[in-house]
Amino acid sequence: MKDSVNQPILLVEGLGKTVANHANHKQVLAEDALIILHDIDLCIQRGDSVAIVGPSGSGKSTLLGLIAGLDVPTCGTIHLDGKNILQLNEDERAALRGEKIGFVFQSFQLLPSFTALENVMLPLELQENNTTYAQARQQAEELLARVGLSEREHHYPGQLSGGEQQRVAIARAFVSKPSLLFADEPTGNLDTHTGQQVIDFMFELNREQGTTLVLVTHDHVLANRCARVLELQDGQFCTTAKTAKAEQG
Ligand SMILES: Nc1ncnc2c1ncn2[C@@H]1O[C@H](COP(=O)(O)OP(=O)(O)OP(=O)(O)O)[C@@H](O)[C@H]1O
Ligand SMILES: [Mg+2]
Repeated sequence: MKDSVNQPILLVEGLGKTVANHANHKQVLAEDALIILHDIDLCIQRGDSVAIVGPSGSGKSTLLGLIAGLDVPTCGTIHLDGKNILQLNEDERAALRGEKIGFVFQSFQLLPSFTALENVMLPLELQENNTTYAQARQQAEELLARVGLSEREHHYPGQLSGGEQQRVAIARAFVSKPSLLFADEPTGNLDTHTGQQVIDFMFELNREQGTTLVLVTHDHVLANRCARVLELQDGQFCTTAKTAKAEQG
């Protein structure tokens, strides 16, 4: 599957997510719904870097999960590399994710019974290509070295600090050389120095491999490195705060 250069890598139109409002213990009426996201439009070009900011609960993680095909919206369309992902079945969506997408979750989601190295190798092992075990291992080792964790390869997530687990999650997201990286608070658990290293690393891959970055963050340093900053408020993009930063050289 080749990337078609002329179309946006991600095109989102009229996206909405509504859930039943179970917080209300009274009888749940049909209209008693909680709108998490409302009428979201988003167009992201290849190689772009976009920060999504906004208060806690504004819908950032929900939006990221929807556009990465991990969750299903109530309405709207999502085209990833020209493909309407909502028309794919679960297996097709998973294959597309495996090939094109890296995802760093807010809660890391490392597999607890796998070592750091095994966690990073996993996306390569799940891909339907000819990567051998030795190649997967070598690539995973390189990625762990780049996030400063060579000494921790054989540790399990439970033996790693929060920031170390976050760096393993980042290595895992990058190991398959995705066209698109979604990261939810990738520097949220890191000290300033380590956070800066991880930011530099993501932008190196953005430059070297043209990886498109879509980052949810409260970190102003990280948001300001992105070419665009979009602000969510109460499930909608806040147009007044939508700032298109001048092209970065
Ligand atoms: N499955 C669900 N059922 C009900 N409410 C949900 C569900 N998922 C998310 N929400 C609600 O939707 C809102 C948006 O949640 P989301 O996790 O997207 O926020 P966020 O912007 O990522 O916040 P944070 O900065 O705290 O991570 C929150 O009010 C949350 O409680
Ligand atoms: Mg969140």
